[in-house]
Amino acid sequence: KRPASTVLFIFGGSGDLNLRKLTPALYNLFLDQWMPEKFHIAGLGRTPYTDDNFHTRLLDGVTKFSRRKDVDAAKFGEFAQHVQYLHLDAENEADFQKITDLVKAKGGEWGEEPNVIFYLAVAPQLVPDIATKLGKLTLTKEKANTRIVVEKPFGHDFKSAHELNALLASMFTEEQIYRIDHYLGKETVQNILALRFANAMFEPVWNRNYIESVQITAAETVGLEGRAGYYDQSGALRDMVQNHILQLLCMVAMEAPVSFDANEVRNKKVDVLNAIRPIKTEDVDKVAVRGQYGPGVVKGKEVVGYREEKGVAEKSKTMTYAAVKFFIDNWRWQGIPFYVRTGKFLKQKSTNITLTFREAPHFAFPPESTKTWRPNQLTISIQPEMDIRIRFQSKRPGQTMTLDPVNMIFNYDEAYGRDDAPEAYETLLLDVMEGDATLFMRADQVEAAWKVVMPIQEHWENTEPDFPNYTPDSWGPEAADKLITNDGHAWTNLSPA
Ligand code: BG6
Repeated sequence: KRPASTVLFIFGGSGDLNLRKLTPALYNLFLDQWMPEKFHIAGLGRTPYTDDNFHTRLLDGVTKFSRRKDVDAAKFGEFAQHVQYLHLDAENEADFQKITDLVKAKGGEWGEEPNVIFYLAVAPQLVPDIATKLGKLTLTKEKANTRIVVEKPFGHDFKSAHELNALLASMFTEEQIYRIDHYLGKETVQNILALRFANAMFEPVWNRNYIESVQITAAETVGLEGRAGYYDQSGALRDMVQNHILQLLCMVAMEAPVSFDANEVRNKKVDVLNAIRPIKTEDVDKVAVRGQYGPGVVKGKEVVGYREEKGVAEKSKTMTYAAVKFFIDNWRWQGIPFYVRTGKFLKQKSTNITLTFREAPHFAFPPESTKTWRPNQLTISIQPEMDIRIRFQSKRPGQTMTLDPVNMIFNYDEAYGRDDAPEAYETLLLDVMEGDATLFMRADQVEAAWKVVMPIQEHWENTEPDFPNYTPDSWGPEAADKLITNDGHAWTNLSPA
């Protein structure tokens, strides 16, 4: 069933996020017949554009960034009939009247009161002001069919996130607020819940009795991508760990939800965040490693070190790599380390989660047969490879008993074909239009996640790093390897398929 009639306002209409992600996603929803029967999209911004110019820009974005490669300009034209550019200066309160007028006009034309969605695809410092002005519109207050979507970063630290939540709560109900973490929209991430809770065979062993350690990697081969202005104020912990990585950790560690009601699922995730053992200042350097890349070579091209990047402070302490060992103090996970790491300019693009199982309790096999033995592992490859693999020992064919680890692999491409997987933003935009907040961050969830990273962030801000400490196209600082090998484990660096 398609969502109800909708008017969608995109603040930052001519910005990068809209061109790269939002419009390609909306257009794909249109092609797949998921857009409402009646919908209208207004891109808002200060730069003047005619509708034609705006459409040309959007088509360009769709052509470059859509998962569908063959973009048909005529078909896009059909979609573009629903899209306009609305010149609006967010600093000028009177301009916001244009929003109310447009909603009224569409409501009149369609003969029904539409859903109204405000998507704030703008720099984080603009969010409070725009939200406040939206809050004053008569359309907004207490209306379940008016929703506001806020992009990450949600706040800069615990305090600012708390203040932003308070500000939003003074104007919108929690049900109206959609805080995006686009990782939650990824097919392979949603599938973690299916794997765990739609099958009877995994959940009984999904705990400290059978699992020895868990690791989560979000490795990127890209560097700053021209985002120094944002990134130098942020860094890997804020940019990736506070949100995407902790959300993945919640998906792996949460208890089984009773239903897929948005609040039920989010309650179970908040329980995980609240159970993460707080890291004491004096322990930060024992359980966490930060890194910043120096100069090097990436894909055959010389790259400058982070501190030499345009727009980055000369002695910047911003980390482009972070690894942390967390513990979760509850019955299921007591004593089991969760190693997480993320970084820019690493050797391989790969986001994956690996659960390593304990040894078999007894080996009846002759000792020489077990030389190649490896512990069982279950690995969920989120991207770019999309698969789930289980590693187990197998007898190598032959007259001797030799045990080798082999993989049992479920691969998305083989099973479904890659084109079938919607992009994260398609799923999330459809959810907003449908009013389903399951995959969005609740206020308490965001704050709990900030609480987890704050002691690390603060300690690192107050101490001098030995940057740069890794070269581009490597797996990050050596200390990050030690963090895990000292415990007798190792990072699983998957080779590309
Ligand atoms: C964003 C971060 O949230 O996620 C970026 O700000 C990062 O720094 C990006 O590159 C990674 O997203 P994805 O979907 O490409 O893994």
